[in-house]
Amino acid sequence: MKQRIMSGMRPTGKLHLGHYLGVIDNWVKLQDDYECFYQVADWHALTTKYDKTENLKQDVLDVVMDWLACGIDPEKSTIYVQSLVPETAELHIYLSMITPQNWVERDPTLKDMAKILKTKEGMGTQVNYGLMGYPVLMTADIMLFNADLVPVGIDQVAHVELSRDIARRFNNVYHTDFFKEPQPKLNNCSLICGLDGNKMGKSFNNDIKISDTEEVTAKKVMTAITDRSRLRKDDLGHPDECEVAFKYWKIFGEAKEIETIRCECEKGLRGCADCKRQLAAKINQRMAEIREKRKYYEEHPEVVEKIIKEGSERARIEAQKTLNKVRELVRMY
Ligand code: TRP
Ligand code: SF4
Repeated sequence: MKQRIMSGMRPTGKLHLGHYLGVIDNWVKLQDDYECFYQVADWHALTTKYDKTENLKQDVLDVVMDWLACGIDPEKSTIYVQSLVPETAELHIYLSMITPQNWVERDPTLKDMAKILKTKEGMGTQVNYGLMGYPVLMTADIMLFNADLVPVGIDQVAHVELSRDIARRFNNVYHTDFFKEPQPKLNNCSLICGLDGNKMGKSFNNDIKISDTEEVTAKKVMTAITDRSRLRKDDLGHPDECEVAFKYWKIFGEAKEIETIRCECEKGLRGCADCKRQLAAKINQRMAEIREKRKYYEEHPEVVEKIIKEGSERARIEAQKTLNKVRELVRMY
């Protein structure tokens, strides 16, 4: 029997290359060796954006379109939406009864979220009950499928650690060994930086979207930071101090090509503008097939909706098995 993998993403709308290279490509590779459940965490989105739901449906669709375009295969993996598997909420209730308040209070990721919230305007500035339960809800996601492994970014590892504690506590309280203690499996989310050299992120306006056109990609790449000490084309360059462009070359280029660029840059034989034009072409080449697939799904949203519906039904069948067992263990009526 294959080991199980469960992971999720909040519906943040169109995804960027950081998601693709750091997370989704990793998920794609896991599909053959594991039984994978990939979830769009729309309830988790509500923990901070309960008052900004205008685009929620489209954001869910956009995330799934990006996954499909990048190669998440609904024949191999179960793609589903959290709120379409309401069993999640019931498991969350049982888990919330056995999770000590101070376990969630000491969650470092939650503390960071609370801090960020305080800096924002409007209603969503306070920490609500639902946000406190963020890691418990995530634990319900994971335990609902009794997952062995949870691929996540470094920022989510503390949550998965808490999931292990909660799973162990459930087993102790109800004298069972039914639940596994899920293991975090680290994604390499910092693989690609943003165009300004900081972490790539939607809200920093420094990202290249999976779904960006070739023209938009080229325009964005031209803004990438290079060797700041270089003013003219024939100034000798320092690729290792080329903060963004050369780093991108190292991700998208072939070994030989990268060496040629390094040499030409160091000798002052290569202008940054030309260099970035070539880089954009390289990125576009790499993304071409994915973007073409994405276009297909954009033109056929009903196909995507069907995949979500069927995936969520499949997820519910597994979820109900777990929940039957849980109800029995807790001795519900
Ligand atoms: N909280 C995760 C994030 O923001 C998304 C998520 C929701 C998740 N449920 C999960 C990740 C279960 C792993 C397992 O990235
Ligand atoms: Fe960077 Fe290319 Fe300019 Fe060299 S030529 S500094 S590698 S962008």
